[in-house]
Amino acid sequence: MEYTLRPLTPEYLSEGLRVEKAAMGDLCYLADVYEYYLTTVGEMTAVFAGDRLVGIGKLTVLWDGSGWLETLRVEPDWQRKGVGTAIYRRYMEQAEQLRLPRLAMYTGAANIPSAGLARCFGLERTSIFREYALPTSALPETPADGRGFAPVPEEEAFAVLSPYCQQYNGYFVMNRTYYRMNEGNCRGLAAAGRLWRDKESGTVLIAGARFQSDKGLHIGLLEGDRAHGLAFARLLAAQRGAGRLVCNFAVENPSLEAFLQQNGFTAGNDLMVMEVTR
Ligand SMILES: CC(C)(COP(=O)(O)OP(=O)(O)OC[C@H]1O[C@@H](n2cnc3c(N)ncnc32)[C@H](O)[C@@H]1OP(=O)(O)O)[C@@H](O)C(=O)NCCC(=O)NCCS
Repeated sequence: MEYTLRPLTPEYLSEGLRVEKAAMGDLCYLADVYEYYLTTVGEMTAVFAGDRLVGIGKLTVLWDGSGWLETLRVEPDWQRKGVGTAIYRRYMEQAEQLRLPRLAMYTGAANIPSAGLARCFGLERTSIFREYALPTSALPETPADGRGFAPVPEEEAFAVLSPYCQQYNGYFVMNRTYYRMNEGNCRGLAAAGRLWRDKESGTVLIAGARFQSDKGLHIGLLEGDRAHGLAFARLLAAQRGAGRLVCNFAVENPSLEAFLQQNGFTAGNDLMVMEVTR
């Protein structure tokens, strides 16, 4: 089957949403992020079989210049007919054009189709992650508290975060976007105002949202006095009207996991990151 690939322009957004809904059921977010996607480097691609839109996929260049592959969906009746392959070919063309040194994606640890497709293009699993969440309505009555926290300046960001690299298996996570903990991403994070430190207690917190800030405040790292960091995260969530606190981290971090469990967070399914260096 021959497919045509074009950028997903606003007049086809409703068709893209139809495909997302058919592939993902209630787990949809394209309507919320489409405008934001248009501001990023990397194409939101639509695949057409004749006149019918049958698949979508986005490539986004992250702060470190690597490519993040996201929002890949194929209409169920069109799955296993090469649509996903066509989108990956487009990803690879962009990687070439934009000279991206690395491409990465995440998927459910049990998502065999998605992992199988990624493997066809050389991506391999790097780590397994677990996402914990807590509705802000379920937070105990103790007060939110921001005492002592200040944003970390861009030029200090990598030095502040690099001691935690191993414990977090080399990534910080926000909205299920898995950022490698390197100079470029740490600087980008600080420039976006999402890296905080309380020098006195030695507490470091990554908190914020890449998108859908009303839906969740994402904790990408929580070290030092964790209770103090969590109190500050609660304050940020309240200020932003975020409905949930979310923390997604490499499973090799048992002390963070125990802390979240003690504070009422519950775990979702495991997720895996796959990547290829070019
Ligand atoms: C994952 C997904 C995008 C794959 O798209 P697709 O168009 O069906 O994939 P293709 O037809 O191009 O398949 C290419 C290769 O991927 C692998 N693959 C795809 N579906 C598979 C399946 N159900 N089981 C095992 N391997 C599979 C195979 O290696 C396949 O090659 P083959 O058909 O020659 O064996 C599609 O299944 C989908 O939209 N799923 C729901 C949304 C989703 O899970 N998105 C992924 C990120 S969260």
